[in-house]
Amino acid sequence: MTPRIAVVGSINADLVVQMAKLPGRGETVSSAEPQWYPGGKGANQAVAAARMGASVSMFGAVGADEPGEMCLSALAQSGVMTDSVLKVSSPTSTALVMVEHSGENQIVVADGANQHAAFDVDQISSADAVIVQFEIPESVIIAAGKASNGIFCVNAAPVRGISDELASLIDVLIVNEHEFAQLGEPKSGLVIVTAGANEVTAYQDGEVVAKAQPPVVEALDTVGAGDTFVGAFIVAYASGQSVADSLELACAASALSTLKLGAQSGMPTAAEVNRFMQESSN
Ligand code: RIB
Repeated sequence: MTPRIAVVGSINADLVVQMAKLPGRGETVSSAEPQWYPGGKGANQAVAAARMGASVSMFGAVGADEPGEMCLSALAQSGVMTDSVLKVSSPTSTALVMVEHSGENQIVVADGANQHAAFDVDQISSADAVIVQFEIPESVIIAAGKASNGIFCVNAAPVRGISDELASLIDVLIVNEHEFAQLGEPKSGLVIVTAGANEVTAYQDGEVVAKAQPPVVEALDTVGAGDTFVGAFIVAYASGQSVADSLELACAASALSTLKLGAQSGMPTAAEVNRFMQESSN
């Protein structure tokens, strides 16, 4: 079955600068030529899910500007439906992404159009899964949770507290280890905790139900790896795969995504992930 996925979330233009070492406080460092890439946690997760074979619709907002056009065209090229993305008078949100040669990164998001993200209830209510992240207003996230009749997945990044109202709507919560530490004990429902190149753990109502080890790769750029994990996991899980199998697949997809510069550039197709998993098991 091809799952229908609605992503309600951020769309950013990423200005990527690479350097030998990230600057310390008060320090200035030189970078190679800056490059623009499409990004934003919402758009990245939409692209990741579409490349894994899902039917994906994006709901969010961009400015009526060149960065917005770049982001929309990247979504469309990966097969994501963008008809419902709003064009607003604020500029497209922009992320300054600093990537160290080791692959480490730091990101600052200059907010703009994401604050106007919106959708109509009937546009997402029939989706098999609705995915949101924390780069759009809380009111929109809660409205998406209420409108969702499928799996409601929250990627709590960048981390902030989860209100009781939102917690009561979540089916799947995906966070990294740092976000998890800030949020406290596993909540009810399915909670997935990623840890970069280290083991991923899934909790169901606070009990560990599955673990997976990401394959080892020579990472060039880890920006977007977490988004690839979210998109790939939900496609597999919404297709009826077990939590354990969905974790394995998402780990492989996320590892592959780190091999190219730019959040969306390295996101793999389902065929690429399957080939990689077969090769890794030989
Ligand atoms: O998760 C990676 C994304 O975070 C980047 O693409 C950047 O836009 C920020 O939102």
